[in-house]
Amino acid sequence: MLAPVHSVPVQLGCRSYAIKIGTGLLARLGDECARLKLGGRCAIVTDTNVGRRYAKEAFNTLATNGFSPSLIVVPAGETAKSLKTVRTCYDLLAAHRLERKSFIVALGGGVVGDLAGFVAATYLRGIAFVQVPTTLLAQVDSSVGGKVGVNLKAGKNLVGAFYQPRLVLCDLDSLKTLPEREYRAGLAEVIKYGIIYDAKLFAQLERDLPKLLRRTPGTLAGVVARCCEIKADVVGQDETESGLRAILNFGHTYGHAIENISGYGKYLHGEAIAIGQVAASRLSARVLSLPEREVDRIASLFKRTGLPVSIKLAAPQRRKLLAAMKLDKKVSGGEIKFVLAKRIGRVRFGCKVTPDLVEQALDP
Ligand SMILES: NC(=O)c1ccc[n+]([C@@H]2O[C@H](COP(=O)([O-])OP(=O)(O)OC[C@H]3O[C@@H](n4cnc5c(N)ncnc54)[C@H](O)[C@@H]3O)[C@@H](O)[C@H]2O)c1
Ligand SMILES: [Zn+2]
Repeated sequence: MLAPVHSVPVQLGCRSYAIKIGTGLLARLGDECARLKLGGRCAIVTDTNVGRRYAKEAFNTLATNGFSPSLIVVPAGETAKSLKTVRTCYDLLAAHRLERKSFIVALGGGVVGDLAGFVAATYLRGIAFVQVPTTLLAQVDSSVGGKVGVNLKAGKNLVGAFYQPRLVLCDLDSLKTLPEREYRAGLAEVIKYGIIYDAKLFAQLERDLPKLLRRTPGTLAGVVARCCEIKADVVGQDETESGLRAILNFGHTYGHAIENISGYGKYLHGEAIAIGQVAASRLSARVLSLPEREVDRIASLFKRTGLPVSIKLAAPQRRKLLAAMKLDKKVSGGEIKFVLAKRIGRVRFGCKVTPDLVEQALDP
């Protein structure tokens, strides 16, 4: 089924660009790049899983439109987001003689987008790049907002830049091959947008969840577009995270700590922040009087999505979790800073909470 193409503008002055969302968009990649008047040589950066399925089509559409693409395939998975891979990419770009006017296409999930974006931001002090996100998480979150970067042994995303793409193409067809678990994890970020910004979106998700779980393009198109609009709006007001952008971290203080203590890999990011958002909602009930009924609606939507909503921890693990949260950036004077909800659709950031309340909110 064909879905109408939605176009969401990201307004950042001379660095403004569009996010296009629809079906059959990969086939239009070359045409879209030609409209942007990008230089002739380009490199498609992708990973083994995505490359196998979609690199050929990306390559052909670019070649048909007069570009000379080369292909860089990195291993699938978080380990590719490293300085070692960055270096490999630089060497290949140089070997393919990419120049100032050349550009990079990031074809893949958040890993490829963050990596290729960082390479684009730094190679020859910055060349253009286009994002073609192929996971739900990348379409609604990582491809929007211009954060690019890689991991160090000491932690995730410790090296990076703010660097905006020239275009984002979200082809909903690519989601058809995404593993079920990855897809549902992406829905955790979708639900987050409802909670932090848009009660109507939240109610639509409650209503349309069965269609979303079936990945119906018509429903997905509107929902993905709304999420991009919200993120673009927030980023447009606070590009470099000095204030408002913090609301995008709803559920993430708990979520990051859960990922951290359970060893990266046990929970997908979306699963950890599903648990985190439910805990943050309980905390919101205590601190900001979020009505219990709304806490229940939130927990129930995550459950219906097939995401975990709680975590059982023995006492030593619980202590580790709290310690991990205190290590997170958001601590001042022994109190941890949280994004909390007043109502579904309305949150506040910078709410200071004592550790005992933080711990209590872990239990239903
Ligand atoms: N820049 C930002 O603002 C931002 C925001 C959120 C997350 N991130 C980053 O995003 C990364 C996570 O992104 P992700 O969840 O997309 O993970 P990912 O890129 O690792 O993709 C998940 C898995 O799905 C596979 N895959 C991707 N598209 C597919 C498709 N269409 N069909 C079949 N398989 C496919 C990948 O090969 C991989 O195995 C993390 O590194 C995180 O730090 C960045
Ligand atoms: Zn997240």
